[in-house]
Amino acid sequence: MSADEWLARWREGRIGFHREAVHPALERYWAGLGLAEDAKVLVPLCGKSRDMRWLAANGHPIMGVELSPLAIEQFVAQHDLPIQRYRRDGFDCTRQGRIELWCGDFFHFQVDHAVELGGFYDRAALIALPPPTRQRYAHHLAQLLLPGVRGLLITLAHDDPERGPPYSVDAAEVERLLVPNFEIEPLESAVGEDGLRESVWALTRRGPRV
Ligand SMILES: C[S@@+](CC[C@H](N)C(=O)[O-])C[C@H]1O[C@@H](n2cnc3c(N)ncnc32)[C@H](O)[C@@H]1O
Repeated sequence: MSADEWLARWREGRIGFHREAVHPALERYWAGLGLAEDAKVLVPLCGKSRDMRWLAANGHPIMGVELSPLAIEQFVAQHDLPIQRYRRDGFDCTRQGRIELWCGDFFHFQVDHAVELGGFYDRAALIALPPPTRQRYAHHLAQLLLPGVRGLLITLAHDDPERGPPYSVDAAEVERLLVPNFEIEPLESAVGEDGLRESVWALTRRGPRV
């Protein structure tokens, strides 16, 4: 899907991917990653995910990146905390409490943020992207993270290659895309009532720690 198609989805309210409840895998597995409580967490393609509030409530500063300004407006409207708006590195940023949302294209989000990031959370980001872009995403994510940084990845798989998003990303593809730059640990995998297989992975950026 193109950027314009995502923006149209938000305008038209076609956001079936959005969950009103915190994702159970986040609550189940996040602590097991062993991140420092104040580690800043990158949330690529963040939408208006309530998971960011859960992470922030658990002490983490959040850096979310999202194409749609409407998603960001809807996110901050959920809360009556004060909001600050500013430009940084070509992005329109909105801060509310510990959560900073960068409005723009994730692929333009620069590598110099690596020093700031202590963790990441991908729910419905990799699987939102068509096949050629997934390779680019996996590479870009790795470039943003220093060795040793850990995060959670939640993927979906189904048996219709014509369908998406959510695109089907099976275990073999997760390995092919991510193993070059991450140690990956499967945490759980189950087929839901919707017939989609949801899998949860713990990822650790490879390379010598600095
Ligand atoms: C499937 S939704 C998932 C949102 C969120 N992670 C969640 O769990 O609800 C994918 C989101 O990525 C955004 N998006 C798509 N391409 C993007 C890009 N290149 N850069 C930033 N955001 C993007 C879309 O606008 C959409 O909100």
